[in-house]
Amino acid sequence: MDPNTNPFNPGAGFPPPELVGRDYLSSEFRIALGRRAMRRHGKHMLLIGLRGVGKTVLLNHACDLAKDMDFEVVVGETDASKHQAGAFTSELAQQIGELLPRLTKGLAAKVLDKIRQTLSSFSMTFSPDGPSLKFDADTISTNINYSSGSLTNLFVAVGEAAAERRKGILVAIDEVQDLPIEDLSALIAAAHRADQMQLPILLIGAGLPNLPGKACEAKSYSERLFQFPPLRPLTEDDAKAALLRPTQREGVNIQNEALEHMVEAAEGYPYFIQEWGNRAWDVASGNTITVDDAKAAELLVEASLDENFYSGRTSRLTPKEIEYLHAMAQLGPGPHSSGEIAKKLGATTSNVSVRRKDLIEKGMIHSPAHGELAFSVPMFDKYLKRVLK
Ligand SMILES: Nc1ncnc2c1ncn2[C@@H]1O[C@H](COP(=O)(O)OP(=O)(O)OP(=O)(O)O)[C@@H](O)[C@H]1O
Ligand SMILES: [Mg+2]
Repeated sequence: MDPNTNPFNPGAGFPPPELVGRDYLSSEFRIALGRRAMRRHGKHMLLIGLRGVGKTVLLNHACDLAKDMDFEVVVGETDASKHQAGAFTSELAQQIGELLPRLTKGLAAKVLDKIRQTLSSFSMTFSPDGPSLKFDADTISTNINYSSGSLTNLFVAVGEAAAERRKGILVAIDEVQDLPIEDLSALIAAAHRADQMQLPILLIGAGLPNLPGKACEAKSYSERLFQFPPLRPLTEDDAKAALLRPTQREGVNIQNEALEHMVEAAEGYPYFIQEWGNRAWDVASGNTITVDDAKAAELLVEASLDENFYSGRTSRLTPKEIEYLHAMAQLGPGPHSSGEIAKKLGATTSNVSVRRKDLIEKGMIHSPAHGELAFSVPMFDKYLKRVLK
């Protein structure tokens, strides 16, 4: 079929043609944002899910909702390859600090003074056309330290300015599990203070299933501070809708049997659904995607997933860690008990405990229940078996 009208969009954070199955979270976002703007309590959120389940797309959706509700939106960037503690905190502080002139413009002198006092360790100027508060050049990068509580002070100052303006602020952060523990602690402490003072700042983050453990390790009160909504694979009906609605809009049909085939193969994972839709569309020649088209798309889907979704996942791993993953893959999709995996490796559980811990730390595997381990990348067992051949 015409590739120009292909509606499917497989890729990291690429907006889907139809965001299905997430209405309940959409309304939770709206409520949390609405309550925050009114300085009422609502928990910060960390969206938790496997690779490709739709976390980034949903986080972007939360940002869009926040903008529609007239929030200021700050998007924090994490980088798995950067382990230097403090870099993230400093960058985030810079972005939050940039809101200050706009939020403080025209506020009463008494309020400005109070905000200035909160930020007494920073060098600041009053801008004459307003008046408003502004940081002196470079002052944030030299004054922000993840351990000094300066990020918290910044949250308080900016939060108070926003409250005066009756505005909300959304801080959105993807791949939170990649933050160095020092930055994660500073972020959680700042979010905690925002809660205690009922400031209109909401934090929504996203991360892999190892994130709740990391957050609790960083600050033990994280369990109470955050809601951790799990992002699960789509239900069968939603997976069908994700394929049918975009094709029907383009005047294309999918045969029932073809639809069943694709939905079963994708196991509800949004990335896989986009990939199946995309390839089946490419293969089909008429105005209907037939079961033969769907079957013919299989090898293309596999090749594309290997190249775009799976490859590179093991680049940060040691040979011993890869060996551990292969042992898990031999046992099947999982979850598997740590004892079973150790046995497969011909070792005892304690002999391989360092590898297991490091793989959890790197987000490759997680523990869905005590003593059990599962892959954090969907169908990773099948991929490893393919590349082993
Ligand atoms: N609810 C949804 N309905 C249909 N397609 C979706 C949905 N959510 C995400 N997708 C599609 O799935 C793919 C993966 O989405 P996204 O990048 O948000 O996943 P992710 O969980 O952030 O993955 P990763 O952990 O690898 O960063 C994209 O192509 C996106 O368009
Ligand atoms: Mg993502």
